[in-house]
Amino acid sequence: MNIFVKKTKRLNSPKKIVLVGFMGSGKTTIGKRLANRLNLPFFDLDEAIVEQEGADITTIFETKGETYFRKIEHQKLTEILTTQSQFVLATGGGTPCFHNNMKLINENGASVYLKYSAPFLVSRLIASKINRPLIRNYNNNELKLFVEQLLSERESFYNESNFVVSEINVKVDDVLQALKIEIV
Ligand code: S3P
Repeated sequence: MNIFVKKTKRLNSPKKIVLVGFMGSGKTTIGKRLANRLNLPFFDLDEAIVEQEGADITTIFETKGETYFRKIEHQKLTEILTTQSQFVLATGGGTPCFHNNMKLINENGASVYLKYSAPFLVSRLIASKINRPLIRNYNNNELKLFVEQLLSERESFYNESNFVVSEINVKVDDVLQALKIEIV
């Protein structure tokens, strides 16, 4: 397991844990398990947007466009970070890269980047691309090129996280170990 602790001073809100990472990095799955283990409420940013808009993510992208989606995403993120006292939050893969969201996240919580290589993410995304508007129309080769390009553009945002957990298959215990200095 590779855990890079980026910041060792006390976090502002150690019980506001925010998972970030590329599509397919397991933010929702790990987030739910982590919330369960820590007995904290779980929020999924995409789910919160779908609930508010009454439409799935693909429909929002298709009918209102990505700019609109990013605006709503920023609003929901702000709302959860500032009105909820403790939680585990799974963000969307693009969340850290728009509207200064990474700064907002780090000012209000403890961010954890679930880091995977492009080939690994591609292998995971092949099976689930249909529900993801940014990649649903790509064949496998186009998907590979797209993920490599977008990951290289986004990595600097993800790397602003307080913790970076990098494993072949990140487990809840890896994340807990990264956070241990702050929350146990
Ligand atoms: C996006 C990732 C998605 C969702 C939207 C845009 C992105 O979330 O927010 O489709 O820009 O990477 P997941 O990371 O949960 O797939």
